[in-house]
Amino acid sequence: MENELQSHRVSASDDIEVSTYLEIAKELRGEQPTFEPKPLPPGEKETIVVIDFGSQYNMLIVRRVRECHVYCELVPYDTPWEKIATLNPKGFILSGGPASVYAPGVPLAPTYIYEKHLPVIGICYGMQVIAYQLGGQVSPGEKHEYGHAILHISTEDCPLFAGLPTSLPVWMSHGDQIIEMPPGFKALAYTENSPIAVMGNDKGIFGLQFHPEVAHTPQGKSIFQNFVYRICGCQGNWTPTRFIAESIDKIKKQVGTGRAICALSGGVDSAVTATLVQRAIGDNLTCLFINNGLLRREEPERVLNTFQRNLKMDIVHVDASERFLKRLRGVIDPEMKRHLIGEEFIRVFEEEAAKLGRFDFLAQGTLYPDVIESSTAIETKASTKIKSHHNVGGLPAKMKFNLIEPLRYLFKDEVREVGLALSLPEDMVWRQPFPGPGLAIRIIGEVTKERLEILRAADWIVMNEIKKAKLYRQLWQSFAVLTGVKSVGVMGDHRTYGYLIAVRAINSEDAMTADWARLPYDLLARISDRIVNEVPNVNRVVYDVTSKPPATIEWE
Ligand code: XMP
Repeated sequence: MENELQSHRVSASDDIEVSTYLEIAKELRGEQPTFEPKPLPPGEKETIVVIDFGSQYNMLIVRRVRECHVYCELVPYDTPWEKIATLNPKGFILSGGPASVYAPGVPLAPTYIYEKHLPVIGICYGMQVIAYQLGGQVSPGEKHEYGHAILHISTEDCPLFAGLPTSLPVWMSHGDQIIEMPPGFKALAYTENSPIAVMGNDKGIFGLQFHPEVAHTPQGKSIFQNFVYRICGCQGNWTPTRFIAESIDKIKKQVGTGRAICALSGGVDSAVTATLVQRAIGDNLTCLFINNGLLRREEPERVLNTFQRNLKMDIVHVDASERFLKRLRGVIDPEMKRHLIGEEFIRVFEEEAAKLGRFDFLAQGTLYPDVIESSTAIETKASTKIKSHHNVGGLPAKMKFNLIEPLRYLFKDEVREVGLALSLPEDMVWRQPFPGPGLAIRIIGEVTKERLEILRAADWIVMNEIKKAKLYRQLWQSFAVLTGVKSVGVMGDHRTYGYLIAVRAINSEDAMTADWARLPYDLLARISDRIVNEVPNVNRVVYDVTSKPPATIEWE
């Protein structure tokens, strides 16, 4: 596979010469018919393919397109056409990226981007790639443009801007810029520092110097909507109902009469996975719930209740708390904690699965961001970090299972939509993410029963107050951390020496970046009062006002 991809690598220094693109450019100018989208028969698969040049925003591009109800996938820039063709592409988006087109060996667009006569948008570096490959000129911008700008649209009839005002705020982040457009292209919009902020030709190829995918371009969604509907002619058939029907069908075909096992964590991902698999293969699915003793207060009871009572699923419950606590005795290094918890989980899982007979398949709730992180051609620092988290605590490498991963192409918010469409209880669907190693990475220093109880009590209060304030759903995560620090306080006439609890609440779209939530002071006051009054051994509460980066979400 690796070799196959290598052989398709297209870069300035490789065997596909720039002259090849100039030939294509000529063709694009010449006899080819002016681009016109062809409507699909209803229900047919349609995909917008995003070519990955390593932009930090490329997952956002995929999300924005999917928000228009059109399926979208991110692929490495050197993916061969045969793989792309299986997606039935209706258009391409070339992502931004850190490179500069004239540097040796930089990623460029494969020839099919221009040869298939499908619409294309190049964003930032993607635009420069189009300009460079089709015979224009790119130069290092005199000013590095970073931040807000006002885009002035200088054309009246471009479908990309249908329904938009003539001036709109956009987000810029680039050094290089186009100084000469390729033949056949026109400038469609400008900003103060970029005379060619948008270019396009009449074959449906566009370049945008700004980033329509980020929240700082508030009308960006309309641009994507115009692209997918007006220019690519998509139907918008990416819906939870369609996804559910297709997944069940696929799982049925994959598993046949085989048996599958699924480990439930209590979170929405494994719940949706298990439900889809159960709808597909019924009793041939066995669900295992391992209580590692590191869960929140009342969590094990809640999980069992929901699945057994509400969803009528049979669950094998294993209380392995003591085993995990024993392994963690005396351990203070966070990586070691993760490692031991992951290892112990595998042991328990193997032992319990062996008791239940032979399984051919393992169902897992892997999500799209994890898949992208491990498959992207151009790895970023951020993705490397997250990956190390998610690999730890994964499931038995030694055990020879085939994987069922129905959520492999979904983002968290899409999983929630699917969960609701499957009629899972709202409380489960809207559960905030919770790390596999559980409260162990929210206790700094040694994990003991006493410390777990303190953290559970504080965490319960945070969750309770956040829910009462009706903020639970809109926050990505909110929780308490037992910092391990002790400080002096005074209670009544007594001097105290107690634990410091930190409260963390963040907003995020995908956990790659996060902003600390501006919780109302009154709410923080209530949380703090209740924690110091109700939780023994805690005499001080602080609120974490750090974003990610530079901090992480968890304290560890
Ligand atoms: P950080 O702390 O790296 O966390 O900003 C990013 C997101 O990942 C979750 N997280 C984990 N999830 N196993 C998991 O399943 C882990 O070991 C793990 N560590 C962090 C964290 O809660 C946040 O949502």
